[in-house]
Amino acid sequence: MATSGWSVEQIPAQDGKTMVVTGANSGIGFQAALELARHGAHVLLGCRDAAKGQAALERLTREVPGAKAEVAALDMASLASIRAFAAEFAQRGIALDVLINNAGVMALPRRELTVDGFERQFGTNHLGHFALTGLLMPQLLQAMAPRVVTVASLAHRNGKIDFANLQSEREYKPWGAYGESKLANILFARELERRAKAAGSRLISVPVHPGVSQTSIVANGPGASDLKTRVLFTFARFLTSKDAEGAWPTLFAATSTSVRGGQYIGPSGFMEFKGTPTVVQPRPNGLDEKVGERLWVVSEELTGVHYPPLG
Ligand SMILES: NC(=O)c1ccc[n+]([C@@H]2O[C@H](COP(=O)([O-])OP(=O)(O)OC[C@H]3O[C@@H](n4cnc5c(N)ncnc54)[C@H](OP(=O)(O)O)[C@@H]3O)[C@@H](O)[C@H]2O)c1
Repeated sequence: MATSGWSVEQIPAQDGKTMVVTGANSGIGFQAALELARHGAHVLLGCRDAAKGQAALERLTREVPGAKAEVAALDMASLASIRAFAAEFAQRGIALDVLINNAGVMALPRRELTVDGFERQFGTNHLGHFALTGLLMPQLLQAMAPRVVTVASLAHRNGKIDFANLQSEREYKPWGAYGESKLANILFARELERRAKAAGSRLISVPVHPGVSQTSIVANGPGASDLKTRVLFTFARFLTSKDAEGAWPTLFAATSTSVRGGQYIGPSGFMEFKGTPTVVQPRPNGLDEKVGERLWVVSEELTGVHYPPLG
């Protein structure tokens, strides 16, 4: 796929489409919501903090006057919040064209739990999005060409789905838990694609990764305590992208007519750190269909969300 000349200006008009972006008040999620709104989409910014959500909406509408954008309460670390969001969306009686599973936390120094008792990185990054996608499936399937875009990471490469320590019950390593959750994002996205294809669905599922992008993710996660991360994000800034560029793979996956379900989209530059979006390859752990299938079943059990038929 030749994307060397790709830029956000090439995003086709998105008028008439409704899109949900999780974690849209900052970083990649905000930039994705901004460009989608600029290109005419009706965008719901799913945010856990109402004040941050409102500030993001004001920033967005300053840049795109007349944008069809709104804030919606959505805490990806709470199944009750996810269910409430999906129920409210269903009441609108409209189709959902694109769901962008973006919200995330990275390498939290200590093991924390969500309100549902899940390890916070696995719970927010993977289980929350698994549940949200399943609960929004009836509205997605009403769309003409529904897409689910799931934001993974280069960090999946060191990830391992250890079903005996899935939520770091036995041992917690901040980066281990992050890598596992991001590997789960890819396995989930690919398993969803397989299931949709098998059901003859119009829905496509596309995993993406942003490379390395200057957002709030370090401050919100390992903070100043993690020397390696600080060096990369502070002293090797030339290797990393600004948040707007970090959103390119997400935007490309959400809007390009050339994207196919199951393709993994990431930056084309040195070591996939930044650059125009293209098809990249996950490591073999991201292609393991058996683990993807088992993770799906375990995720259904943990969240209590069972997907409807995808056809
Ligand atoms: N930046 C990178 O280099 C990089 C690399 C690989 C992958 N990624 C992935 O990119 C995605 C976006 O991250 P980012 O870099 O843009 O970081 P960011 O600026 O920290 O944005 C993360 C967003 O997720 C939200 N969030 C966190 N927990 C949430 C929850 N429980 N419910 C709802 N929203 C929640 C945050 O909201 P609050 O403001 O309320 O915390 C924030 O809006 C993540 O999935 C991350 O893993 C980023």
